[in-house]
Amino acid sequence: MLRRWFLATTWLLLSAAGQAMAEGSPSSSDTSRLEEGESIYQQYCASCHGRQGEGMPNWERQNAQGELPAPPHGPEGHTWKHSDAMLYRIVAEGWRDPWNKTERLTMPAFEDALAPAEIRSVVNYLKTLWTPEQRRHQAEESEGAPFPTQSE
Ligand code: HEC
Repeated sequence: MLRRWFLATTWLLLSAAGQAMAEGSPSSSDTSRLEEGESIYQQYCASCHGRQGEGMPNWERQNAQGELPAPPHGPEGHTWKHSDAMLYRIVAEGWRDPWNKTERLTMPAFEDALAPAEIRSVVNYLKTLWTPEQRRHQAEESEGAPFPTQSE
């Protein structure tokens, strides 16, 4: 009986704390979009780019097929060097290194699988993997090259 009371109180305290956190910065709707972005990432991207965005081993060198493996998305990668417009395009339309020895898109196109808002969410999630300085740099790059405006 005492134990049940204890569990109920703990549960109440935890849910109050969870709510306070969800209302914290930047805003609860931004937080839920980031959560959506993370779950899209785990479902559609992690198989190649790694669960933590660590990329494939030897990602800087062509593999036996003459293709560049999936790169990391964290500070050691190049993702942060692309504007929002470019990142959107890479995810929507796919991508391949021009020096690959094959013609296929090694980075698949996701425009049929993901809605425009989902593409924006997953790109915004990638930003959480960068350093503050990389985030600032990329935000400046994106001023002149934002996400496409026609996308809902
Ligand atoms: C089938 C494996 C695969 C999946 C799944 C995949 N990618 Fe990629 N991705 C790649 C490869 C390979 C490259 C490198 C292409 C190149 O430059 O040769 C890449 C490149 C990228 C780049 C450019 C990075 C840079 O440094 O220029 C971004 C951004 C990216 N992927 C995001 C995503 C996102 C977001 C998802 C999930 C929605 C995803 N990828 C799913 C294989 C994949």
